[in-house]
Amino acid sequence: MNLARFKTLFKALLTSLRTGQYKALLKEFRRRFYSDWTHFGLARDLTQSFEATPAKIPITIRPLKDTDVPGLLAMDAPGISDRGPYVRMHRLNFLNAQIGQCYVAATEDDTPCYMQWLMSAKDNEAIQHYFHGIFPTLQPNEALLEYAFTPETFQGKGIMPYAMAQIAEKAAECGANRVITFVDHQNIPALKGCKRSGFSPYLTRTDQWRFFRRRYVFTPLPPGTPYPFDVATPTA
Ligand SMILES: CC(C)(COP(=O)(O)OP(=O)(O)OC[C@H]1O[C@@H](n2cnc3c(N)ncnc32)[C@H](O)[C@@H]1OP(=O)(O)O)[C@@H](O)C(=O)NCCC(=O)NCCS
Repeated sequence: MNLARFKTLFKALLTSLRTGQYKALLKEFRRRFYSDWTHFGLARDLTQSFEATPAKIPITIRPLKDTDVPGLLAMDAPGISDRGPYVRMHRLNFLNAQIGQCYVAATEDDTPCYMQWLMSAKDNEAIQHYFHGIFPTLQPNEALLEYAFTPETFQGKGIMPYAMAQIAEKAAECGANRVITFVDHQNIPALKGCKRSGFSPYLTRTDQWRFFRRRYVFTPLPPGTPYPFDVATPTA
């Protein structure tokens, strides 16, 4: 682990201790100790037209500026959630890796309220090196969206679906017409955001964690596979 990563881990741990929010860290520890954990691979075909519902506040999409980072990723953010320090730590680490392009959604007064990275096939080597094989190698017509984040004070305003839909469309500028992303099966807000930005399930990835090491199993899903929250649960 390099020094920058160690520093963000230390800050995240300190924030969790300061705010008394240990549950997310404990959950991560248990997951990595022993579990089979599923993520959905989701894809959007940019050749099919899709119109996302506008967010509840006006937003515009632009590339991330250095000055946006404290507002988006400060560990002392107001109302920081249980997962907040952990989520911010990953994005700070990824920012240092300088892979792909990070876009933000900004409010009318240019306050950043959402971030997400767009990567293309030219980033394949860096992606495989950084993520150790958790994403498929991108084809020349494919792009990858990752690390969506809406700070707590802006959550629940429909920002993710509208922003993600527009950031996905930026992939056309690097020659892609298909965009993929991966989401933890339990992360319902993120899965809903993906559905509302035009993405559909096409794959699962099961992370088989055994004593802090993992193997991945990718399983294609049949076309038309519904999101888990759209599957009717049988009544007794
Ligand atoms: C996932 C995430 C980006 C969603 O962003 P968002 O801009 O809040 O998205 P939305 O406003 O569309 O909300 C999505 C759903 O979560 C609910 N929700 C999430 N947080 C909420 C909050 N703090 N207040 C109210 N509703 C909230 C919304 O109500 C909505 O569900 P509904 O339409 O059925 O009511 C955001 O929750 C986040 O940053 N989470 C932590 C990081 C993360 O998990 N990233 C995804 C990695 S793939």
